[in-house]
Amino acid sequence: MDLTTSQHNHLQNQGVREFKTQEGEKEDEQIVAKIMERRFFPDHIAYKTWEGFHFAGHEIRITEATDCYGAVVWPSALVLCYFLETNSKQCNLVDKNVIEIGAGTGLVSIVASLLGAFVTATDLPELLGNLQYNILQNTKQKCKHQPCVKELSWGIDMEKNFPRSSCHFDYIMAADVVYHHPFLDELLLTFDHLCKNDTVILWAMKFRLEEENRFVDRFQTLFDLEMISNFPSLNIALYKAMRKGRMKARPSKLKV
Ligand SMILES: C[S@@+](CC[C@H](N)C(=O)[O-])C[C@H]1O[C@@H](n2cnc3c(N)ncnc32)[C@H](O)[C@@H]1O
Repeated sequence: MDLTTSQHNHLQNQGVREFKTQEGEKEDEQIVAKIMERRFFPDHIAYKTWEGFHFAGHEIRITEATDCYGAVVWPSALVLCYFLETNSKQCNLVDKNVIEIGAGTGLVSIVASLLGAFVTATDLPELLGNLQYNILQNTKQKCKHQPCVKELSWGIDMEKNFPRSSCHFDYIMAADVVYHHPFLDELLLTFDHLCKNDTVILWAMKFRLEEENRFVDRFQTLFDLEMISNFPSLNIALYKAMRKGRMKARPSKLKV
């Protein structure tokens, strides 16, 4: 499926219109409500701000900072976690090698670990302390494989830190990594570097401004893209992607 931005937007708008007219709207709202129900807040104010989530049979507490983008949990992360949990049979993560890029506070990596994957959670160096803390608090003695946290600044020292010859990931996960920042070229390069012929990319994309939304077109120069689900009320689409020509070998039965 090769879509240009305008085709993609047209499809999105068409999707939105269809949703708005009939059952779709209800379905969108119902599933989004179900996803958002997984979030809860502390009933008293503690010295550290945290948010709670219910996924994979666990209560997950995420400590947040308020000073940068990766320091809160973004709705795209919830969409991806809900997908992972509700598709744990079709998308079985047990013993799978998973890398998350732009992991932020770590929710997706934690859920993937609780579902049995061996996870490498990555982000910019300044995010790693809080990421490590959340991952440890929520996975210690609860997971088959203890996840690891590693610096990955998109496009930088990729071959040195993630050599193509020794790194093989079954899944690359990414939630809300496309927004107004100057590293979109580096982001594409990172997907390209980490993705082998049989790697599946699961990417929750929040649509904001046209300029950044065009990243979807650039992404499709390297990868085949399939929209697994679309939540117009959140402006979030969940995609599965593989290297061009590899998707047919693994037809999808995935749906939120
Ligand atoms: C909007 S946040 C999303 C965080 C998390 N995935 C979520 O959905 O809650 C974007 C994330 O991308 C990370 N990021 C931004 N630029 C980056 C770069 N050049 N290299 C690596 N990570 C980056 C940020 O640190 C942040 O954690």
